[in-house]
Amino acid sequence: MAQAGQQAAPPAPPTSDQIFKNVQVLKGIPVDQFMDAMGMFSASLGYDCSSCHSQEIHTDRAAFAITTPLITRARQMINMMNGLNEANFGGRPRVTCFTCHRGNPSPEDVPSLALQYADVVDDPNAMALVRDRSVMPDQVFAKYLQALGGAPRVAALTSFVARGSYGGFNTGGADVPIEITAKAPNQRTQVVRAPMVTASRPSMAAACGCLKGGVRSRSWS
Ligand code: HEC
Ligand code: HEC
Repeated sequence: MAQAGQQAAPPAPPTSDQIFKNVQVLKGIPVDQFMDAMGMFSASLGYDCSSCHSQEIHTDRAAFAITTPLITRARQMINMMNGLNEANFGGRPRVTCFTCHRGNPSPEDVPSLALQYADVVDDPNAMALVRDRSVMPDQVFAKYLQALGGAPRVAALTSFVARGSYGGFNTGGADVPIEITAKAPNQRTQVVRAPMVTASRPSMAAACGCLKGGVRSRSWS
């Protein structure tokens, strides 16, 4: 979303190896994208963050930099995956962690008869990575902004409060109330009222110094 009344290009976002201590492969990418990759790793293998990382991360965030045997293995996997895409798919991200792993740390190597003959399950959330670059995101956003009444009108928006429901890993999948309060520039808080506890969910934003008082504040991008 466009930031209120701001025309100049925003400063380049910090990159992974500027912020983190021990990045050896995923260098030079924006921190957001780096964290998206961590989410992708977890989802692809059916893992959570502590599966690969040291158990010390529960008490010390600096421990994310510790190299464990699974971190070493995952680094090899990233290089293997990049090699496959470079050598066979013109560098496009055609093979990802999920292509092989499908929620399993140890990918299957024998086809499943149950899979072949069972009813087809339609996943409403299924999607493909963008491989066709003929339509760029800017064009899509331009159309969206136009539909909202034009960029100047959207730029006049400096804050919003949203309420809705949220279900995720930390609620055990149950829908619970969520409130989001945002204000330009650079302030966003989200409060999730989980069944047992009321907590503002801190995030890895702490690693980039964006965390204040246990409330997740994140810059708009
Ligand atoms: C499949 C294994 C795996 C999982 C699961 C995983 N990571 Fe990572 N993580 C890595 C690897 C590999 C690196 C090092 C990347 C590199 O060297 O380029 C890394 C590095 C990091 C770093 C940088 C630490 C530093 O200071 O150098 C952070 C922060 C991080 N991971 C957070 C997370 C979070 C948060 C999650 C859960 C959402 C997560 N990771 C899940 C494999 C994993
Ligand atoms: C071409 C297929 C393929 C791709 C792509 C792939 N992997 Fe793997 N991965 C495997 C296989 C096969 C194994 C199991 C090896 C074994 O059983 O010894 C494995 C094992 C692993 C393990 C060790 C699991 C354990 O419990 O020992 C980790 C961690 C891992 N992969 C992470 C990743 C990550 C992260 C990505 C994406 C960057 C990825 N893999 C992409 C095939 C793949």
